[in-house]
This record gives sequence, C-alpha cells and structure tokens, in this order.
Amino acid sequence: MRILGIETSCDETSVAILEGDGTVRSNLIASQIERHRPFGGVVPEIASREHLQHLMPLIDQSLDEAGVALSEVSAIAVTSGPGLIGALLVGLSAAQGLAYGLRIPLVAVNHLEGHIDSPYLQLSGPAIPMPDRFLSLVVSGGHSSVYDVRASEGARMINRTRDDAAGEVFDKVAKFIGLPYPGGPQIEARGRDGDPARYDFPLARFKDGSVDFSFSGLKSNSIRLARREGLTPPIESMDRETLVRLAGFCASFQKAVVDQILDRLETIWRSLDSARRPGELAVAGGVAANTELRERATSWCAEAGLSIRLPERRYCTDNAAMIAFAGLRRLGNVSGDPLRVKARSRMAVGG
Ligand code: KG4
Ligand code: ZN
Repeated sequence: MRILGIETSCDETSVAILEGDGTVRSNLIASQIERHRPFGGVVPEIASREHLQHLMPLIDQSLDEAGVALSEVSAIAVTSGPGLIGALLVGLSAAQGLAYGLRIPLVAVNHLEGHIDSPYLQLSGPAIPMPDRFLSLVVSGGHSSVYDVRASEGARMINRTRDDAAGEVFDKVAKFIGLPYPGGPQIEARGRDGDPARYDFPLARFKDGSVDFSFSGLKSNSIRLARREGLTPPIESMDRETLVRLAGFCASFQKAVVDQILDRLETIWRSLDSARRPGELAVAGGVAANTELRERATSWCAEAGLSIRLPERRYCTDNAAMIAFAGLRRLGNVSGDPLRVKARSRMAVGG
C-alpha cells in the first residue's frame, strides 16, 4: 500500500508519497509566499495560477525522491476543502485524472482532518499509533478550534473562532507594523528579545460563557497600541528605543494569543466529565510551530495530567504528507467514481 497526497487548498502546492504504515517517503512543498508577499496576504487568482504551474512537476519530483513509479501508487488522497475554490480545483482535477487513469481509489480529504492527524506523523519511520481518543487543538491561518476526536466516531468540534483565526491575527498585526507575510514567524522572531509583560492585553470573554475563540478585539487593541507607540513601517527607519518597544510589543501580543488559547483549553478541560476525559492533547496547524505555544501547552498538559503530542514543525504548516496520512485512514470508506468528488470552499469537520 502506497498513497500519493496532493494539497493545494491555499498558498502551498504540496505533494507527498506515504507508505501504508504512515512512513513519509517524500513531502515536497512549493511555497508561493514570495508571490503573495507584495500584497500582504494570499491573492486567490495568483494562488490558482501558481498551483497550475507547479503541481505536475512537483508530482514527478515527489515520485523521484521517493524512488517510486506512478504505477506503484495504490491510491490518491487530495484536499477537497475547505479552502480557496480555484486553488482546490487545481489539485482535485489533477488527482481525479490520475486516479481515473490509473484505476486506483481517490480519497477526498478535509484539510482540517489532515491537520488533526498531523501530530502523529514522524520525520522518518512509521506514524505514531493514534490513541482511541484525544483532544485536538487546530490553530492555523484559517481556523482555530478544539475538537474531541474519537477513532470510532471522528472529530466533534467543541469551539471555533467567532471572528479571526489565531494565525490570521498574527498576519494582520504583523502587516500593520510592517513585517512581511506570513506574520507568525516574524512576530515570534521579533519578540524573542522583548519583554512579554511590557503591554497588557485584555483576555476576550463572552458574556454568555461561550468557550469560543475571539481574536478580533486583540487585533484592534494591538493595532491601536502600535499606532500610539509609533510602531509603524518602515522598520528600517526605527531608532533603537523604538525597536525595543517593537520587541516588547511582539512578545506581549504573542503572549496574549497564547493566553487565550490556554484559557479556552482549561475551560474546556474542566467542562469535560472528569471520569471520561481524553488522555492526550494533540496540537496542530501553522501556529503550532510557535515555540511559546508549544512550551506553555506542554506545561499546561503536565499540570492537567494529560500527555501532549506536538507536530514536527514541517507538518505544522500546510503539507501533503498530512493529507496523504488522513487519506490512508479513510481509504476504507471510499466508493464510487473519482470524477464525482466535488471541491468545497467551506466544509465542516466530518462533512
Ligand atoms: O496551517 P497553515 O499553513 O495554513 C492554514 O491552513 O491556514 O497556517 C499558516 C498560519 C499563518 O497565519 C502563519 O502566520 C501562522 O500559521 N504561523 C505562525 C508561526 N508559523 C506559522 N504563527 C505563530 N508562530 C509561528 N511560528
Ligand atoms: Zn492548513
């Protein structure tokens, strides 16, 4: 059993080859970040064109790197949603053509389910066996949710964001202060020497006691504060004192995002029946690459008494290995004509 995975839902074209036990033979990513950077975010039309240009050569390279012939592939997994519809269609059409031509099954994978499963992939060797039940935190550029995942029933969404996603606020705040896209790693790097207690941001809470995330208040507060503190582009012309304030701002902002994530985890954890709580937290998505989140989630798990599973950094941001892996686990449910699979820009987990 060998599966080829294709991911084109946003701004990374990615192709991976995995063995049936989850061993990653190749996982290539053609990032379009430089093409979108002048616009400070992803431009859908550019994304589709870039996928078109890069996908077929990347499939060849991925097979080459894995030392596998196309005829040795036994199934194709592809992201069918959620994402940019034009971008999704490029990957899906290619996957449909391949599956149809090779007469092998096509598994449509929900991008979020790819993220949920990603912490169990290893850099080398078979995937780590997934527990029968775990709590999954997915924090990316488009989504922020906690799921209760059961092997037998799939994922149940416990909360979601009411407005911006965690990665999205990193990107928007970074853009305002003149840092390039994507903002998450930039803010993390700038904040490394900053004082996280320099600025205090209120923790967002809902009057109705909801455990949903909300990052838009933090975004507005941060932008207002940055303007007041003179933290506006270009960074190159900031003096030393301003750069110290900028580092403090980045560290404080990052702390505020992580504070909210841990606050929701804690509240959700307490609301679960203590006799039947999951034994593991798996963190996933682009923001799972953030060191402060990784460290504080690890400490929180140690205190709460559950194990933690953090993804390898290369499996945090969008990649086809996680799609192929999620596809492997869903192969048993595939039936019918690959040409009937539809791309959907919006798609719930389990949908
Ligand atoms: O999972 P992903 O590649 O795309 C979506 O499916 O949305 O996540 C990309 C997001 C971007 O918003 C990026 O700024 C954020 O992940 N990100 C980070 C870090 N690395 C990537 N956020 C905070 N700290 C990081 N080190
Ligand atoms: Zn993603």
